[in-house]
Amino acid sequence: MASSHTAKIDIEAFLAAQDAKDQLRFITCGSVDDGKSTLLGRLLYDSKTVFEDQLSATESESKKYGTQGEQVDLALLVDGLQAEREQGITIDVAYRYFETDKRKFIAADTPGHEQYTRNMATGASTADLAVILIDARRGILTQTRRHSYIVSLLGIRQVVLAVNKMDLVDYDQSTFDAIFDEYVTFAKQLNLEEVHAIPLSALTGENVFGPAETMAWYDGPTLMTLLEEIEIRGDRAGHEREKAFRFPVQWVNRPNHDFRGFSGTIASGKVALGESILASLSGKTSKVKRIVGPGGDLEEAIAGQAVTLALEDEIDISRGDLLTHPRSAPEVVDQFAAHVIWMDSEAMLPERTYVVRFATDQAIARVTDLTHLIDVNTLDRHAAKTLGLNEVGYCKIAIDRSVAFDAYKDNRQTGAFILVDKFTNATVAAGMIDFGLRRASNIEWHDMKVDKATRAQINGQKPRVLWFTGLSGSGKSTVADRLEQKLHAIGKRTYLLDGDNVRHGLNKDLGFTDQDRVENVRRVAEVARLMVDAGLIVLASFISPFRSERQMARALMEEGEFVEVFVDTPIEICEERDPKGLYKKARAGELKNFTGIDSDYEIPENAEITLKSGEADPDTLADQIISYLEAHP
Ligand code: ADX
Repeated sequence: MASSHTAKIDIEAFLAAQDAKDQLRFITCGSVDDGKSTLLGRLLYDSKTVFEDQLSATESESKKYGTQGEQVDLALLVDGLQAEREQGITIDVAYRYFETDKRKFIAADTPGHEQYTRNMATGASTADLAVILIDARRGILTQTRRHSYIVSLLGIRQVVLAVNKMDLVDYDQSTFDAIFDEYVTFAKQLNLEEVHAIPLSALTGENVFGPAETMAWYDGPTLMTLLEEIEIRGDRAGHEREKAFRFPVQWVNRPNHDFRGFSGTIASGKVALGESILASLSGKTSKVKRIVGPGGDLEEAIAGQAVTLALEDEIDISRGDLLTHPRSAPEVVDQFAAHVIWMDSEAMLPERTYVVRFATDQAIARVTDLTHLIDVNTLDRHAAKTLGLNEVGYCKIAIDRSVAFDAYKDNRQTGAFILVDKFTNATVAAGMIDFGLRRASNIEWHDMKVDKATRAQINGQKPRVLWFTGLSGSGKSTVADRLEQKLHAIGKRTYLLDGDNVRHGLNKDLGFTDQDRVENVRRVAEVARLMVDAGLIVLASFISPFRSERQMARALMEEGEFVEVFVDTPIEICEERDPKGLYKKARAGELKNFTGIDSDYEIPENAEITLKSGEADPDTLADQIISYLEAHP
């Protein structure tokens, strides 16, 4: 019996009643030809249907009153997909709500054509169970296998095989048995825990709601009975609350100077006042000082609740960080292995960079290695160079910095990601993380007898890098050049790395966008490190305008090996000197992203040496560095 469109419902009472009942989320897979619409229609028609507009009313009410109903969380697990929806890209998933006396149901309905993997993945990412439709006359198709594989990949562990149109095969038991047997053989290779099969007819309703006298040989439950009674094993069954605490920080909430809180929705587990908290990205810990919910302060909060957490200490936390308990830290690395479902008509290109989005974090990613492609029919693994639309592969993905995550099997929210095309902003893939790869620590350094110390000894010097930073025309290279001559004269082994020369070779693919400068400095820093390891005194002369890359370069070296030399020359003087005429060009608008004009230069805060090149000649400045080196042997 369907409830009326116009009926007024008492929101509070409605929500209370709803919460008392549990809820099953399922996805229906199959095509219109398999009778999917008919089957769903029948389920809706024969149950007490709650119409969508009523539910959306409930939703906004529950938000207003701050009630934590499941209703407010109907959408998607992967925030990125949600972001995509906000950008107005349609994902064709319809959520249908209905209920019986025993249970509430949310059915994700997606178009069944093969090219709609994206929609299916979206629907399946929040479901506990999948109802996979089969036309009894056609049996198991490629599509059936694909759907089954994707639902298992997305963490669904329970499948109901709805073998439809039994009326068209004369209710023949052997037809049904053969389909079931074939499916079970296939499903054994998947990560499914439970497979049920029901012979039914959506058209006549047999074995959907009521039993079928025509199939007396079948003694199992009807579809509705099964959906009502099946024990929910998925994440949604409240198990999320039992899992490790995961709180992806959505934003830093700082309404005034007295309060700094971190807002977001608890992905899993629970948190209580006074508990220790780990900020995954920095590794810093603190304690929970306050938990603020929509209705005020709370003692504790659980998965699904949107809260703001305030901590006792001021530690560095920003959007994208993952707050957890210290005893159950997530993985924090810059590379992982994952299953990827490719959803774009343009094929995946290993080595191309994409934007990777996690629950709240985002970074730049590169598929470094496509390990294999999975044939959804046979589940065989094939070598492949690329992934096309709807193909599933297993890849290694490198991120431009460390990110915090879990394995997908442990947490469907913090273990999922999407890849987004940098230019079109389209979601091109959905991914499920298998495990993190510790790049640096996985490469073993051979324990060689000749090492940095022995090389330094034979060179008779302390290897280090003198990192010159400053504006173009500030005099970096001139001073570095003078210094190198002086060092050479006293028998030191040196090498001068300079922006203008490196950019002709190693870095000739790089320009002057922020991103390219970052990469320029990263490569140079790595080269400098190798040279220091070789026992040389390296003079690196680069504008290196950003603090974070200079810091990164410093972090690559050992204590005392990195000497930052800030060539502090006012821009007016640099511009007056203008040795290459570049300032003139930049002022005339002929040269874009020029440092100091339309691109930033971040002044060093802790440089070991500051040179005032406007006030002394290069010779004097080089001597100033020699004095420093002598004073710090
Ligand atoms: S960095 O910013 O990436 O560290 P780098 O030191 O390698 O720059 O190169 C700077 C040199 O490139 C300058 O000395 C100048 O000769 C040249 N150059 C060309 N275009 C630019 C630009 N837009 N901004 C700065 N330098 C530029």
